[in-house]
Parts: sequence; structure tokens; C-alpha cells
Amino acid sequence: MAQNVMITGTGRSYALGFNLVLRYLEKGDTVIATVRKESEALNELKELYGEQLYIVTMDIGSTESVCAAKEEVEKHFDHIDLLINNAVTVSEDCDKEFFDTNLDLIAHTVDVTGIGPLRVIKAFYPLLAKSEQTALVMNISSEAGSITRCYRTNMVDYGIAKAALNMGTMNLVNVFKDDDHINLFCVHPGWIRTNGKPDNPAPLSSYEAAEILRKLFEEKRNDFTGPRFITNEGVEYPF
Ligand SMILES: NC(=O)c1ccc[n+]([C@@H]2O[C@H](COP(=O)([O-])OP(=O)(O)OC[C@H]3O[C@@H](n4cnc5c(N)ncnc54)[C@H](OP(=O)(O)O)[C@@H]3O)[C@@H](O)[C@H]2O)c1
Repeated sequence: MAQNVMITGTGRSYALGFNLVLRYLEKGDTVIATVRKESEALNELKELYGEQLYIVTMDIGSTESVCAAKEEVEKHFDHIDLLINNAVTVSEDCDKEFFDTNLDLIAHTVDVTGIGPLRVIKAFYPLLAKSEQTALVMNISSEAGSITRCYRTNMVDYGIAKAALNMGTMNLVNVFKDDDHINLFCVHPGWIRTNGKPDNPAPLSSYEAAEILRKLFEEKRNDFTGPRFITNEGVEYPF
């Protein structure tokens, strides 16, 4: 059954969000793709797919922007079946070691990468609630957000932000524990060449990773009892 899929952070042709958009369009679904600024690559997809692709501007770091996007989207759609929170930001100090990191930059990363997806879920919940199937929310997290498996001495902002996203996801899992109309997960999407650079050693292209995730998400839609933090193979990852 064709579905309405909303994906955040989709403007970069080499990154994961854009390739998820492409995979869902190829399968015949309708996609609401969010961007911060106009994207030539997405505009080209719009020319190919027409009404099947709806592009909307949304800054997930701003509640006002997220609510404005929701008002815009609901003029065109009466429901959303799948929300993929993919957008991410990191600070310029992300790769630095702890003692070289400006700790004052961390809050912004957490606000966008950790809290941003929660803003989106809160604003768009009324549209998710109108799905005729189990509405699915997939928060793209990272192994870097696992406290149990933390091994790094850098990426302080990113790790804290993804751990926050994982906590926010679990809070919502509790909120909806008696509601089998919505299901939520956080997912480590694998190691992916999302920067588009040919010397990137990651094993998966964004296009390959997007299809692995697309299939996994459909398998997980009605899984209410399995682990909530999973890898791209559907295996539990420790929080
Ligand atoms: N690459 C990997 O191996 C890997 C591993 C684990 C997890 N992940 C996760 O996979 C996801 C995709 O990664 P990626 O490398 O493809 O990401 P990316 O290339 O950095 O793209 C992320 C997107 O988020 C958008 N964005 C940034 N700030 C935003 C904001 N305030 N509001 C709305 N959108 C905003 C960016 O928009 P602009 O284009 O306007 O900047 C961009 O399109 C992320 O959640 C990442 O943490 C990736």
C-alpha cells in the first residue's frame, strides 16, 4: 500500500536523507521532504516525480519553523504514515578531543540533533495519528549515542546529542505504551559514505544504506515488543 512518508534533512544529493527520499519515490510512495534551504538536487527530483514529492522548508532547531511547516504540510496532506527524523548538525569542534573542544558549542548540537526530532514528532503527531496503519517514527540515531558502548574521546557534542535523542525516543515510547496506533524506534543506520567523498572508507553508499533502512522500517512497523534501539540489521544496540 502506498504511504505518505516525511523525511527531514533531505537537501544533499550524496547524503542519507536525499537517498531515502529517492528510494521511497522509486517504490511509489509519496514523500514530504524537508530542507533548510532550496536544494537543486531535490528540485530535479520534483521535476521527475511531480505530485509524488512535496518539498517544505523546516529548521528543526526552531519550534516556530517546525509548527509553520506543519501548517503548510496539512494544507496538502491529511495524514503521515512514516516519519524519518534524519536531520543532524554537529559543531565545528566535533572531531576534536575533549580538552580541545569548546564546550559552549555543545548545547546547539543537542538542541538541533537531540531535541529537533522531538519538536517534529510533537508538531506532526496529529497527522501521524490520522494514519490508517500503524504510524511509524524512525529516529536516525547513531552508535555514537550509546553510553554503554562509548569508546571515543572526541565527538563530544554528537555523542551527547544522540544519547539525548535516544532518551527522548524512550520517553515517547512510554507516552504511547498503551497505543498500538504509533510505534517508535531509534536506529543506528550503519557506517555510510554520507559525505560523498570517494576516499570515505565507510562500506555503504547512501543509496545502498537507504534501501536497507527502507526494508527494515517496514519489517518493524508492527513490532511493539522488540528492542527500541536497533542497528540497520534490526539487531538490538545497547543504550
Ligand atoms: N554517515 C554515517 O556513517 C552515519 C553513522 C551513524 C549515524 N548517522 C546519521 O545518519 C543521518 C544522516 O547523516 P548524513 O551524514 O547523511 O547527514 P548530513 O549529510 O549532515 O545531512 C543532514 C541534513 O540535516 C540538515 N540539517 C542540519 N541542520 C538542520 C536544522 N537545524 N534543521 C533542519 N535540517 C537540518 C542538513 O541540511 P543542510 O543541507 O541545509 O545543511 C542536511 O541536509 C544523521 O542523523 C546521522 O547522525 C550517519
